[in-house]
Amino acid sequence: MARRKIGLIGAGNIGGELANLAVSRELGDVVLFDIPAKENFAKGKALDLEQATALSGADAKVTGTSNWADLAGTDVLIITAGIPRKPGQSRDDLVETNLPIIRNVADNAKKHCPDAFVIVISNPLDAMVYEYKRRTGAPRAKVVGMAGVLDSARFALFLAREANASVKDVRAMVLGGHGDDMVPILSHTTINGIPVQKLVSKEALDKMIDRTRKGGGEIVTLMGTSAYYAPAISAIEMAEAYLGDQKRVLPCAALLEGEYGYSDLYMGVPVVIGAGGAERIVALDLTAEEKGMLAKSAESVQKVRDLVKSKA
Ligand code: NAD
Ligand code: LAC
Repeated sequence: MARRKIGLIGAGNIGGELANLAVSRELGDVVLFDIPAKENFAKGKALDLEQATALSGADAKVTGTSNWADLAGTDVLIITAGIPRKPGQSRDDLVETNLPIIRNVADNAKKHCPDAFVIVISNPLDAMVYEYKRRTGAPRAKVVGMAGVLDSARFALFLAREANASVKDVRAMVLGGHGDDMVPILSHTTINGIPVQKLVSKEALDKMIDRTRKGGGEIVTLMGTSAYYAPAISAIEMAEAYLGDQKRVLPCAALLEGEYGYSDLYMGVPVVIGAGGAERIVALDLTAEEKGMLAKSAESVQKVRDLVKSKA
């Protein structure tokens, strides 16, 4: 059987790490795509990654391109095209620049690789994945956004450190929009099955929830640009679940059509990811407080979705 094909739209910070992880996990051959002005940059990054396989032993071809025809037959398309935040910017501030970019990518992907499983990363995430789906008309199961896996990973790390536990044992669940009102779901956050409230004080929990909500901004302030290692591995977990038909339950931005009481909205919910893509949205029994926080987060997402819909 021919190797799978992983298409990466955007050869920047996250794109490069996505390529590195896809190669090291031998998910398939990798096509690293960027705009013509950055084609040589993409080609150079691809060549560097391929040369590394002579030592890692990974069987994977890596090519750099700015020609969409090279994405034909892509199995998984991961989109990071767009600018990241600068210190002081909110994710929503990126709409002006990133909306035309995601529309350009959507038009080209629809033409050249319409059957791919698509993972959007570009910010503002919930709006960009919504617009990609709207623009392409691709099946809802084949278009998801990466944010919840990253936000849950950040929360899990903070919990592991506070509880002096292994990261291997922390199961955190952060849902809702990828914004400062995202929703850590404590009722479904455990350390090896033990409810986290039994191991960590409320005061410490509140601090970690706040730090998780501002997790992206913390790194932007420190580095002057967005995180890329944790975002990249978060998307690769989703890609691997699809390619390996793993039926993983992962918090992803999925198109809601009545689930959790919302419709025509992409937002972070628990999704079963397998060979069918986003195969099923899992309904959780949320506490009244969690439902209230989800409603607040949904309001923020609806605002930026409507802003996107209003722009010709
Ligand atoms: P980056 O600037 O390093 O890379 C973005 C790349 O996109 C650049 O190389 C640029 O040339 C390319 N690009 C621009 N227009 C394009 C087009 N039309 N087609 C193809 N490529 C195009 O940025 P980054 O750090 O990799 O971040 C990428 C995006 O991911 C940003 O919007 C950032 O805010 C977002 N992000 C999302 C999450 C999340 O959790 N969803 C986390 C971190 C970053
Ligand atoms: C993050 C932002 C930038 O790193 O989306 O979470």
